[in-house]
Formats: sequence, C-alpha cells, structure tokens
Amino acid sequence: PCCQRKKKKKNMCLFSSCVPEFWGDIAKDFFWKTKHAGQFLDYNFDVTKGEIFIKCMEGASTNICYNLLDRNVNEHKLGDKVAFYWEGNEPGDELTVTYRELLRRVCQFANVLKSQGVKKGDRVSIYMPMVVELVVAMLACVRIGAVHSIVFAGFSAESLCERIMDSQCSLLITADGFYRGDKLINLKLIADEALQKCRDKGFPLQRCIMLKHLSKEAEETPLGSQSPPAKRACPDLQVPWNPEVDLCWFTLLCGVSDECEPEWCDSEDPLFILYTSGSTGKPKGVLHTVGGYMLYAATTFKLVFDYQPDDVYWCTADIGWITGHSYITYGPLANGATSVLFEGLPTYPDVSRMWEIVDKYHVSKFYTAPTAIRLLMKYGSEPVQKYKRQSLKVLGTVGEPINPEAWQWYYTVVGEKRCPIVDTFWQTETGGHVLTPLPAATPMKPGSATFPFFGVVPAILNESGEELEGPSEGYLVFKQPWPGVMRTVYGNHQRFETTYFRKFPGYYVTGDGCRRDEDGYYWITGRIDDMLNVSGHLLSTAEVESALVEHEAVAEAAVVGRPHAVKGESLYCFVTLTDGVTYSCSLEAELKKQVREKIGAIATPDYIQNAPGLPKTRSGKIMRRVLRKIARNDRDLGDVSTLADSSVIEQLFQNRCCTAV
Ligand code: WTA
Repeated sequence: PCCQRKKKKKNMCLFSSCVPEFWGDIAKDFFWKTKHAGQFLDYNFDVTKGEIFIKCMEGASTNICYNLLDRNVNEHKLGDKVAFYWEGNEPGDELTVTYRELLRRVCQFANVLKSQGVKKGDRVSIYMPMVVELVVAMLACVRIGAVHSIVFAGFSAESLCERIMDSQCSLLITADGFYRGDKLINLKLIADEALQKCRDKGFPLQRCIMLKHLSKEAEETPLGSQSPPAKRACPDLQVPWNPEVDLCWFTLLCGVSDECEPEWCDSEDPLFILYTSGSTGKPKGVLHTVGGYMLYAATTFKLVFDYQPDDVYWCTADIGWITGHSYITYGPLANGATSVLFEGLPTYPDVSRMWEIVDKYHVSKFYTAPTAIRLLMKYGSEPVQKYKRQSLKVLGTVGEPINPEAWQWYYTVVGEKRCPIVDTFWQTETGGHVLTPLPAATPMKPGSATFPFFGVVPAILNESGEELEGPSEGYLVFKQPWPGVMRTVYGNHQRFETTYFRKFPGYYVTGDGCRRDEDGYYWITGRIDDMLNVSGHLLSTAEVESALVEHEAVAEAAVVGRPHAVKGESLYCFVTLTDGVTYSCSLEAELKKQVREKIGAIATPDYIQNAPGLPKTRSGKIMRRVLRKIARNDRDLGDVSTLADSSVIEQLFQNRCCTAV
C-alpha cells in the first residue's frame, strides 16, 4: 500500500496526496444527498498555527441510518438478510432480526422520538443493556439527526448523571433491568437515582423512555411478530415509575408509523458523543461526526476482518464502549453484515458459552478482548474443545496489549492455528482501528499491532518531541488525521487541544507508549499518562482518588496499577485517613462501595492499603512511581533523593496488602 511507502529522509507519507482518491473512491459506495464543497480532508494539527480542526467532506450531506439500513434493504436487496442474531444472557433466549425488520423498528422509534420533541442536534442519553432495542434507539437518533450519548449500563447513577449533565441531554432512554449472569441489575432504579441527582444539581430532565425487558407482559413483544425472550423474564421486577417523567417504550410505539424520512446531515454534523476517562478525573465527551466516521468504521471493518457476504461476525464488546459503536453497530451494518449481539457473559452458565455460540451461529469472524482470553485460558483447553469452531476464520483482539502467552492460546487453542489474529490498536478517540494487521496479508508477531491502517501515519517521539527513526521507543503520536478521528471534546474544544495536541505541536498524542522494532512493527507498551487499563477499560487514577477522598474518613488517596493475571491491571489504592479515624475491615468495605457507587463496578478497588504517610517530594507531589513499586513489592526504587521523608517507604512496604479486598 502506498501509505507505507515513506520518503527516505523525513518520515513523511506520500499517501497524504492520495487521500482524496483513496477515500473518495470509498465514499462513492455510500449515498450522499449533496456533494462536498471544499477539500476532501482539511485539518490543522499544530496548536502554534491556530485552532485544531479536522474536516472531512464538509458540505456533503447524508444520513448514516439511511446508508446502513435503507440502502441495504432497497438497493442491495438485503431486506431478508439477518442483521442480528440476538443471544440473551440465558441460553435459549434468542431473536433474529432482519435488515427490513430493523429498518421498520428504527423508523417507528425515530417517529416516537420526534413526537417527544427530539430534533436534529439534540442530545439523547442511552443507558441500556445489550438488547436489539439499544441498536434501534441509537439508529433512531441518527435517523433524525439527534446525537446519541450511550452510557455503559455498568456505570453508576453518579456517572450517568455527570454524563447527562455534561452533554445537556433532553431525553434518557433506559430499560427496567437485566441479568448479568446470575445477577439481576435493576437499571431503572439506577437511572432514577441519576435523574434525581440531575434534578438536585439544577438539571431537571423532563423525559425518560423505559423499555420493559424483564418485566414485559405477553402482549408486549419487542420485535413485532417475534416472540419475547421468556426464559429469564421477571414480571415481578420492582420498577419505580414517575408519571411526570417516565414513558413506556411499547406504549409510545402504539399506532406509530413505521416510515420516517431521514434527516439529511452535513458530513461534519455531530453523530455521537461517547465519554472516556480523562486524566484529570472528569470524563471527556469524545465527539465524532457523520461522514468521516461512517467511511472509517465501514472500511476498517471490511478490510481488517476481511468481511465476506456470507460471514457471521461476532464482537463480544458492549455497545456502551467504542468497540461496540464501531464494530457492532456502524461498521457491520454499513457492510450489510450479519452479527451476533450477545447480552451475556463468557462464563455464564459455564466457561464454554462463547464456543457454544460460535458453533450455534457458525461464527466466522470473532472479536474479543485480551482480558476475556486470559479469563478463559485459566480453565484450559477442554471447555473450548467441547465445541468444533470449524466456522472460525479470523480472530480479533482489542482493548489492551495482548501478552504473547494469551496470543498463543488464542491462536493455537481457539483458532487451531488456522485463523490469523488481528491485534487492533485504537481508541475511543480514533473512531476505528489505526494500527492493525490485515488478516493473512500481514505476517504476525504475537503481541504487536503490526502496522498503520491506510492513511494513518504514526511516529514515535522522545521526551523532547523529536521523531525517532528506525527501532526506537517513546510516545506514540499520529502526524495527520484519517476520516474517523474525533473532532472535539463536547463543549470543551480547549480541553481537546490541551489533551491531544499541546504536548507535541503538530501531532495527535495517543497517551500510549510504543516501541518500533527492526522490522518496523509497532508494539504498544501501555499508557504513559495517569490512566489505568483494567479489563480493557480505561480508568483515570484521579477519578478513583476523588471518589475515595469524598469519604469523610479519607484525607488523601493515591491510586496506582498493579499487574493482574486476568484483568491486565488491578487498582491498588493507598489511603491516608483523617485524624482520629482507625482503619478497619468495615471501613475498607465502605470505601470499596463508595468507589462502586461513584463510578461503577469496573472501578472497584482490588487492594486498599492504610497509608499513614505517602511518599512525597519536597514540593509535596506524590511519587506514584514509588507507590507502583510498593504495590508490586519491588524494592528496586531507583532514585528517591527527592523524597521529603524516606521513612514512609519502609512503613508502606511493611503494611503492603497481599490479598485483594
Ligand atoms: C489500549 C478501545 C494495546 C490503549 C478501542 C489505548 C490497546 C486504549 C489496544 C484505548 C491494543 C486498545 N494493544 N493497547 N490492541 N487496543 N488499547 O478508548 O492504551 O476504550 O489508548 O478504546 O486502550 O481505550 P478505549
């Protein structure tokens, strides 16, 4: 590919000049109501030259929902093709949804949203389990030009409230509840708590649409002629109801037309907001726009998974994360693909569930996270080998660096050495894969995300911002945009510039460390900012620390990552208590609960250590580097000459936590 032809001297990409041709050809496969006016891709990546901007096909108008559904049904004659095989948490709960049915449902719900006063540009928060209606809700927003902000259903009321307020949403869509394995989650209760918090903070949200998922009655079928999931129905679920605010999904649909003209949007109109952890603690609303994101999600899906029309594709991520946005909804539907949409867990009812599903639907392309692979690896090969997995052709991984041991297990045991592995590196911010192999075309190296995707130009910088050539290690940055890169932090463009462009003017800074080997392969070495990657979820240490210090017993907190065999990293928290408070097991439990309630279960501390003193520099800065060593019981501390009081170190080593709380 021409993007990998580099000029000898400066690491410049010749591809920049052929961007319009490459992406322009791809754009021809989509429907545009009007043509773009200016340059195909226009941008400034240099803060010293003015405001940062990225624009792709500005002036062209389209509608993603139209491209994903109407075009596939009407033009490509895929109306009867299965869009989703929904597989519920409980084996036996299943639904099949065709493209035609999905289009009908989306149009109907889009009309519901319109009748509730939702207009182009309005933000809508979606807080739902992995059900088909989640896809319906997101595409209904897109159809009328509204901007969805999906909040992962594992987040707490506090986190949901923060996201609703930051994006100034006009409506919330949620569900009564769902099961995660054996555990019942009463989602509506959490949503109500979030809305109460919004009200208390002066942001009274007027409307909340609730889907009955568990408490539905026989006549309330989710997908017209399809029968409702029954196995784990829970008609007695206590669903709090506020008639002033709450609206029932099914009631709203009654008598509503299933035809809805799409709203034509500019290529640079906002498409969605998705919050990701920020190193200051406050989550950032990553904003993606219509045209570029559509081209990028569709093309990366097609090429990275070598999509073929008879594939059955399964991405195990939750739609509440970017992987689910790009590679469950947008990428696959843009290609007319058939996907599995799975509500449950890899370990429920047993650790063979994934492979059972692979055989059941003849899954050919499978995409999951290293943490899931490591979890299943613990149980050995027998649960995998109970199923044939003959349909598998390509295996993908995403979310964190995959250790070579897990890679080998995935390749040998799951894929029986037949299936290439695509280790895809990307971020919420990048919209789609940026470093990735192309299956069977790129020679693999276990643990390396290999090379940039077409049009992506990475570089490795040292601390002074100099580009390193050849084998080297440093900051991973990108030198030019690709169509799917984020456009701004919602409501805070300055934060966008500061976070990604200020440190090294002229480059987009990923926040990841990276090594390039002698063959030019890229190896992600992990985050080099104050972020932790727990089970593939990014968390900011500041966010967890502030949740801890909000407890009256805690004066100060410092959180670091400690390697974990399954999760990649676990949360190790040092807490200094306020004067007069004594440390106890019940306090530890309270602190754990506090973090869960403030952020969500994914942020639950694994270790909490009573730290009467923290290692600080003379200027009062906590030396996290030292705390990381203490958490790992590594006495090779390096230079600690800047420490104000070195006696705290020994004390902390003495009191280390050895077992997770
Ligand atoms: C990490 C997830 C190594 C990385 C799509 C990045 C990876 C962060 C990989 C983004 C990979 C993701 N190899 N590290 N293949 N994929 N990461 O925004 O640290 O949830 O910056 O997007 O995950 O996480 P996010």
